[in-house]
Amino acid sequence: MTDNTSNKMWGGRFAAGPDAIMEAINASISFDKRMAAQDIAGSRAHAAMLAATGIIRDSDAEAIREGLLTILSEIEGGKFEYSAALEDIHMNVEARLKEVIGEPAGRLHTGRSRNDQVATDFKLWVRDQFDAFEGGLIALIHALLGQAEAGADWVMPGFTHLQTAQPVTWGHHMMAYVEMFGRDLSRVRDARARMNESPLGAAALAGTSFPIDRDMTAQALGFDRPAANSLDAVSDRDFALEFLSTASISAMHLSRFAEELVIWSSAQFRFVALSDRFSTGSSIMPQKKNPDAAELIRAKVGRIFGANTALMMVMKGLPLAYSKDMQEDKEQVFDAADNLMLALAAMEGMVRDMTAQRDNLAAAAGSGFSTATDLADWLVRVLGLPFRDAHHITGSLVGMAEKQGCDLPDLTLTQMQSVHGDITEDVFGVLGVENSVNSRMSYGGTAPAQVRAQIKRWKGILA
Ligand code: ARG
Repeated sequence: MTDNTSNKMWGGRFAAGPDAIMEAINASISFDKRMAAQDIAGSRAHAAMLAATGIIRDSDAEAIREGLLTILSEIEGGKFEYSAALEDIHMNVEARLKEVIGEPAGRLHTGRSRNDQVATDFKLWVRDQFDAFEGGLIALIHALLGQAEAGADWVMPGFTHLQTAQPVTWGHHMMAYVEMFGRDLSRVRDARARMNESPLGAAALAGTSFPIDRDMTAQALGFDRPAANSLDAVSDRDFALEFLSTASISAMHLSRFAEELVIWSSAQFRFVALSDRFSTGSSIMPQKKNPDAAELIRAKVGRIFGANTALMMVMKGLPLAYSKDMQEDKEQVFDAADNLMLALAAMEGMVRDMTAQRDNLAAAAGSGFSTATDLADWLVRVLGLPFRDAHHITGSLVGMAEKQGCDLPDLTLTQMQSVHGDITEDVFGVLGVENSVNSRMSYGGTAPAQVRAQIKRWKGILA
């Protein structure tokens, strides 16, 4: 829409309205309307402060605060008409306030700018997302703890290079992800604490000559304190970048687990059965049950990383203080947040619903010479051989078993003795998978007792 009337809110020095293309590139209302509730909360806090400090009359502040509530209910009821000519959520709300309460509306913007306003709104929005992120992580960790507890002593193959390495326990594998999501949780909490400073009252960039009370607005909005430098306060988007970077790391963790679920649920592995609720069928192959949720979670990391990179590029090289470039911050964060929350919830549901195929896990745990290290360790411990020699001897025994198409415990004592004469019957005691995992009692090791100790520790942390 090309309009020859200049903007109602800032058009005092303009003789003509913007070109339609200008309006299209400039307007952010199509997306920043998601911050309506935050915008209204910020304005209500600002108005109360303006009255408390005697900058505006109490009656005006009351009218403003009431009018803003009316607008909030219009927005929530889907009755609010957004206008692209009014650019963004801030000016849409203020213009409507004028319609609702008349003259006092014009006093709201005293000692404030859209620059501190948008920084405040966006921070409040991102802060809610940090809280949702924290909740999603805690729920996922509880789901993983449930799996770990059920299968603290179920054996499965542990892999390096996706080749069978040593037997581990199902509980241990689940708890590895608890550690990852636990670190995510601590990053989220750190970032949440760091970002909780109020930009409101920084005004356009330099502060204001009005005797405002920034502590009062900070407190009203749940911030710990006002941000200490007005230039920084209006141009800082670290909080958004910290959200995106913590989200990126967490999405990366989700993608690794998702990948394992895709592999594990395949006919070749059959380590887990995913529930019907979190699988889909194929329209042509009736036998198929596809792990679509896991695949999509695996993919989400792409757009979340992308958002992080995009906003880093937007912010890079921007001179102080506010530049309109920063309007490009929101869509990236909105998209990343929506997809992160969805991925966390889907993963939590999948983990709660999935069934570990205990027998398949156990069968796989014993194959692939998974106890070769236990054999080498026995040669060291019992025969006193240097580990390098023990490694070599074990390698020969693995070669022998491979040639005969059997596993290590299937070799006879005589065959073993043909490689090293001092080997005794005792060796068979360490070739079993259960023995192997039970023996790994070092702190953080895979022994069920260690896994149970870690489950207990995490329950304590989350209690
Ligand atoms: N819609 C703008 C944004 O998201 C609000 C701030 C505009 N400030 C200004 N000085 N034009 O960044």
